[in-house]
Amino acid sequence: METEALSDYPFPGGRLELEGEYRQLLRRRPVARVTTPTGDLAWLVTGYTECRFALESARFDRDLIAAPTGPRQQEATVPPDAFNGMRLLTEAGIAGEVMRHLSRRRVAQHRPWLRRFAHRLFTDMISSGPPADLMADFAAPYPLAVMCRVLGLSVARQDGRLPRPDEERLAHWAELAFSFNSRGAAELHEGWEQLRAYLADEVARERRQPSGGMLSTLVSACDDKRVLSDGQLLDVTALLLTVGHKTLTSFLGLAAVDLLRHPEQARRLAEDPAGLLPTAVEELLRHVLIEVRGVARIATARVELGGAVIERGDLVVIALHAAGRDPRCFTDPDRLDLAREPGTEHLAFGAGEHMCPGTLLARAQITAALEALAPRLPTLSLAVEPSDLAWTDGLILRTPTAVPVTW
Ligand code: HEM
Repeated sequence: METEALSDYPFPGGRLELEGEYRQLLRRRPVARVTTPTGDLAWLVTGYTECRFALESARFDRDLIAAPTGPRQQEATVPPDAFNGMRLLTEAGIAGEVMRHLSRRRVAQHRPWLRRFAHRLFTDMISSGPPADLMADFAAPYPLAVMCRVLGLSVARQDGRLPRPDEERLAHWAELAFSFNSRGAAELHEGWEQLRAYLADEVARERRQPSGGMLSTLVSACDDKRVLSDGQLLDVTALLLTVGHKTLTSFLGLAAVDLLRHPEQARRLAEDPAGLLPTAVEELLRHVLIEVRGVARIATARVELGGAVIERGDLVVIALHAAGRDPRCFTDPDRLDLAREPGTEHLAFGAGEHMCPGTLLARAQITAALEALAPRLPTLSLAVEPSDLAWTDGLILRTPTAVPVTW
């Protein structure tokens, strides 16, 4: 077994295609030694089975990666309390109550509005072009307004997009929170504090005039149950707001590019959206390469995994997007096949204790977006070569700066 560290993780270069390094690792070394940008050693897990094991095993801990000592995946991050917001909610005994706002029933109640809103954004985009930018006109404003509405923020009480200044500020703060080795600790701290101050106004308004949204539940946990401090309330709200929309913004932009690069698949979706949507959503979640750095854990015991011996205290980086391309688990994994038979479940939302609690809301938004986009797909195309797309680098997720489209 080769155990020497490969240089530089994340691997440079890759955007729309899976980097060659991952392909080699998937074939030969599903758990391999790499060096992170901080110069620390880590185990990079790429194989599907190994990734799932690491996500589901209690011997790999997520909270410990915020510890001040030990190997690190990146230099600076948002404050640890914010990072471990879900643990705060669990310890406060209110995780179930807060997450009820993301339940099947609640998401079903949002669905008609999600459809109308997606349809309206695409209609506005079409009437203002061609050309248009699918990021600015859809992928950025849509999930942001949705998450603000789920939280119950006053800024989303109107039925459509947020006012532009709010959109811009919230997108900027979310981008800081999702940065990866591109910003200093002071800048991240300042951005997070500004976001907290913005949300403090919303909390004050919520106390005067409850919205009935997620923020109502959080404020009541703070004021009535006294299980969250004011500071924790702001951290958790900021976390939910940022993770609840930023992942989708990147995903929707990348999914649109993926579809437009596969016109025969896009045409099939346009011909039979109702029939194809359920498998199309899951296939795009598997196929879209969204991760830049993978999710991290610290080993709490010695573990043998994928032929490697991981010691207690080692940093483990789980490359969820590479797992979705593991040929041992997916037939012809690089092919986008919107009708792919359901089989091995992708890991786009993670697995185990920290699996994304927003999967139903995310799937509902992706479905509504594809429904609205499907009829336009046969005439829609990228207005630039895929290789000329501009990218916002320095984030934990691959994110096109713009997706120029024409028709
Ligand atoms: C396409 C959209 C989305 C993707 C791909 C995604 C992906 C993920 C992944 C992979 C994790 C696990 C991280 C880990 O294991 O360390 C996660 C966690 C999380 N996601 Fe999502 N997510 C999406 C949408 C959402 C939405 C809409 C929400 C709504 C609030 C949300 C809230 C969260 C939260 C709070 C966590 C932290 C869970 C914890 O710490 O235990 N996500 N997400």
